[in-house]
Amino acid sequence: MDGMEYFYELFEALPRGGPGDNKSTKKAFNTIPKRPEQPLILDIGCGPGVQTIELAKLSNGRIIALDNHQAFLDKLTSNAKEEELLDHIVPTNISMLDMDFGENTFDIIWSEGALYFMGFQNGLRRCHQLLKNDGFLAVTELVYLVNNPPAPLIQYFEKEYPDIKPVKDKIDLIENERFHLITNFTLPESSWLDCFYLPMEEELTRLNKKYKSNKIALGIFEEMKNEINLYKKFSDFYGYEFFVMQRIN
Ligand SMILES: C[S@@+](CC[C@H](N)C(=O)[O-])C[C@H]1O[C@@H](n2cnc3c(N)ncnc32)[C@H](O)[C@@H]1O
Repeated sequence: MDGMEYFYELFEALPRGGPGDNKSTKKAFNTIPKRPEQPLILDIGCGPGVQTIELAKLSNGRIIALDNHQAFLDKLTSNAKEEELLDHIVPTNISMLDMDFGENTFDIIWSEGALYFMGFQNGLRRCHQLLKNDGFLAVTELVYLVNNPPAPLIQYFEKEYPDIKPVKDKIDLIENERFHLITNFTLPESSWLDCFYLPMEEELTRLNKKYKSNKIALGIFEEMKNEINLYKKFSDFYGYEFFVMQRIN
């Protein structure tokens, strides 16, 4: 895609790479029963790692924090150092498509807003291989919150994310891929607005000025603004669902 550098300039300035919040990370983590005292965790698509740091605090484990964009990993490293948590975190620059960890390696796999980069179903299969027997997987995934979403939304996602489905369809998929669903819940609107889109709007105002005669940059920023407006208009109809599940052998 043309102009990826402007896209990254925007995202590198944001606290997180997608909707989410520490309260939801903690809520999901606390539903995992019988956790090892120091679990080995893989955080796929960790981005700047807000949830990685929260997981380090919650789990007292060791976390392989994996992303393929070095600037996000650098931000995670610096924040983890500040919080004196770097002993628990191994920032790792690998594509999730090229992970070569052994099978049955991890106690827990975490992925907030990122598993879809390998296709949700394919991601479930890969995590099933990498998890220990009875290991746990927690992911957030874009879903329709209703069975009959409005036509403009369907049109938009046919192009942007055709894999978006109602929650029930995602649960069927999870169960078909040999996981037992422990819980699922919808992220609150505040994790989209306060934690993601409001900081993005502020940054867009700054970048639109900085690149005021750069058509490519302005085109990218306009797409992001449209995404924000779409959410503000249709947030009753789609959202992120947290799914916490256990591997069945
Ligand atoms: C929506 S962001 C989520 C970031 C973070 N989990 C959060 O919730 O703030 C998706 C992340 O996946 C990463 N990503 C995209 N494709 C990837 C790939 N092939 N391998 C590893 N990471 C990837 C991006 O760099 C980005 O940091």
